[in-house]
Amino acid sequence: MRKKIVAGNWKMNMEYTAGVSLFSEVINMVRDEVRGDQEVVVCPPSIFLHSLGVLAAQQQNVNIGGQNCHQKESGAYTGEISAAMIKSVAAEYVILGHSERRQYFGETNELLAEKTNVSLKAGLKPIFCIGETLEERNSGAHFDIISAQLAEGVFHLDAESFANVVLAYEPVWAIGTGVTASPEQAQEIHAFIRKQIEERYGDAVAANTTILYGGSCNPKNAPELFAQADIDGGLIGGASLKSRDFTDIVKVFNS
Ligand code: 13P
Repeated sequence: MRKKIVAGNWKMNMEYTAGVSLFSEVINMVRDEVRGDQEVVVCPPSIFLHSLGVLAAQQQNVNIGGQNCHQKESGAYTGEISAAMIKSVAAEYVILGHSERRQYFGETNELLAEKTNVSLKAGLKPIFCIGETLEERNSGAHFDIISAQLAEGVFHLDAESFANVVLAYEPVWAIGTGVTASPEQAQEIHAFIRKQIEERYGDAVAANTTILYGGSCNPKNAPELFAQADIDGGLIGGASLKSRDFTDIVKVFNS
């Protein structure tokens, strides 16, 4: 059966010492909370990955991930970080296609398909983000947008490779706004995503794919969201910067 995951996306927040403290606190606080089918993932700024990887190695079911990688395997791309580099510091995951990267860095589905390929080749599991803007939702285009993000970003993969992909539905209008999708709104889209996976790869793959919800998720709204049939955890922004809030969200699985 599919894994339940709570992943923290620190974005461009925290400095080194505070980041190491936060991660150490998280590890201590979830030590007895994470069961075999559950996983906690923290995605810090990439320059903290190595230090956090050393700490993560001490705790089963706590892993780290990058927030982005370059689409090429290596080469003359000053300032960029490759998937293999992220993997080499003990990371298991990489977030791809976050709406902030799509919006501020012009990342397209086509580019993200390349990033997905290099990540999987390096042995990283992509946490592939999809989601519509408020304008797209208001015009009724959200299902088409999500279909296209899936079709162009990840559905070129064969079933074996796709099994290593985690999806994250993050409606852009809910990110950092304090406005969460209602559990019904989120479940509707998650069920739609699972259906698309079923049509592309079949029942078994669809049933095994972890689909996270992201967008103003916090300890208060997580219980209702995670209780939905097709929501397998969360991708947490703001609330992942506070150890108590983040670990309270992790504990929702067992409450
Ligand atoms: P917030 O939880 O701050 O809304 O951010 C969600 C997000 O973008 C996680 O990737």
